[in-house]
Amino acid sequence: MKSFTVATLLKETKLQEIQIKGWVRTFRANRFIALNDGSTLHNIQCVVDFENTDEALLKRITTGAAVSITGELVESQGKGQSVEVTVTKIEILGDSDPETYPIQPKKHSFEFLRENAHLRTRTSTFSAVMRLRSALSFAVHKYFNDNGFYYMHTPIITGSDAEGAGEMFRVSTLDQKNPPLTEDGSVDQTKNFFGKDTNLTVSGQLEAETYAMSLGKVYTFGPTFRAENSNTSRHLSEFWMIEPEVAFMDLAGNMDLAEDFMKSVISYVLEHNADDLEFLDKRLLDEEKTKPQAERSELSLIEKLKFVTENNFKRVSYTEAIDILRNSKPNKKKKFNYIIEEWGADLQSEHERFLVEKHFKCPVILFDYPANIKAFYMRLNEDGKTVRAMDILFPGIGEIVGGSQREERLDVLKEKMAVLDIPEEELWWYLDLRKYGTAVHSGFGLGFERLVMFATGMGNIRDVIPYPRTPQNAEF
Ligand code: 4AD
Ligand code: MG
Repeated sequence: MKSFTVATLLKETKLQEIQIKGWVRTFRANRFIALNDGSTLHNIQCVVDFENTDEALLKRITTGAAVSITGELVESQGKGQSVEVTVTKIEILGDSDPETYPIQPKKHSFEFLRENAHLRTRTSTFSAVMRLRSALSFAVHKYFNDNGFYYMHTPIITGSDAEGAGEMFRVSTLDQKNPPLTEDGSVDQTKNFFGKDTNLTVSGQLEAETYAMSLGKVYTFGPTFRAENSNTSRHLSEFWMIEPEVAFMDLAGNMDLAEDFMKSVISYVLEHNADDLEFLDKRLLDEEKTKPQAERSELSLIEKLKFVTENNFKRVSYTEAIDILRNSKPNKKKKFNYIIEEWGADLQSEHERFLVEKHFKCPVILFDYPANIKAFYMRLNEDGKTVRAMDILFPGIGEIVGGSQREERLDVLKEKMAVLDIPEEELWWYLDLRKYGTAVHSGFGLGFERLVMFATGMGNIRDVIPYPRTPQNAEF
């Protein structure tokens, strides 16, 4: 007798005796089990001969119970499925008390499911989202592997602040209130595990640059940590970032790479995850129907994904963007003034959304930002006031990618670090790259959860990562 997953069983054409294991989604009329095992969005219907089944056993077939079923695969009389299972034997592997099991067969709010994050992937929505997350992650590795990149593991615990923004979680083994002191009264760092305070990485970029300057084309894909107190639907304290870094590539090449890469991974899931996408597409459509007409999205989820793969991203300099914002009318209804008077100000998410969703209506790559609102490592332009930075803005998401051409000139980089009070001793190895065989190089960082949000249409970043970490929340 052959064992199947639900996914393989639903495609099976040979009618035969089979065995299958999974969790009961619903049990109707003492007869119809909808069984799911996570291998697909769909359930397989298993029909129980209740007249010949022990009543005590029937009572234990409840939502959430783990069961092993032996039966005959037969053609289904029901709608929406070609095969079903006539149960000959059912074994309860693990009971699920219907009185206390949180995931009832009804619509639960996302807030409730976040509190039950350990069980929420037993719903169709979250299992679909997490299968897509897995597929996107595979597509990322596939893209870089197909294009000659090496996968590099950058450290999680680091001694430097890659973004210079001071938003790091400290890693120290010293008692912070009463640190051990040396005879001269200073903190005794020999008692600290690493001999100094370190932190959780905010980005693998600086280390990736070192490998790009020897292996040519590399990327990292790992967890990064930010101690920023942003309680929004787009920020996590722990998120996964994809960071390619390429030697001899300038900013234009960086834009080409980012665009090609994003189109490729989105095409991958369009091709391989149609079931889950169609389900999420319908879910979103229902959600849209609850909104006033004017606020509804013009495109469905799948249409949005196709749009991104089929259209060029619009490339606009920061200075052009400011002009557009200056000439746009203030939006009185939303009580927000899109107008930025000042060249040099950082764009707020409202400005970004206006550019992407109202003005261009497509993904936008903004480049050549004012130097003083961007990180220390970005390549200064000949105008002396802008840097070769790029941000990619996506409809409904805002900033999804941040990247740049890196400053490859030792003297200019040192000057910039001095202005920002970044000690050279901390980054001596980073400066070495500019001393020995320096060259033009570029890279970017893609926030993986923001990509998953875009691909699944989920509105809150907490719902696209298994166990979200946000300020005041690390329950699981
Ligand atoms: O723009 P960021 O800060 O850029 C960097 O870290 C560069 N070192 C990347 C590089 O050039 N290699 O972050 C990059 C992306 C953002 O565009 C955003 O998508 C995501 O990371 N991101 C976050 N995602 C979720 N929660 C947060 N708190 C995030 N902060 C940034
Ligand atoms: Mg950024």
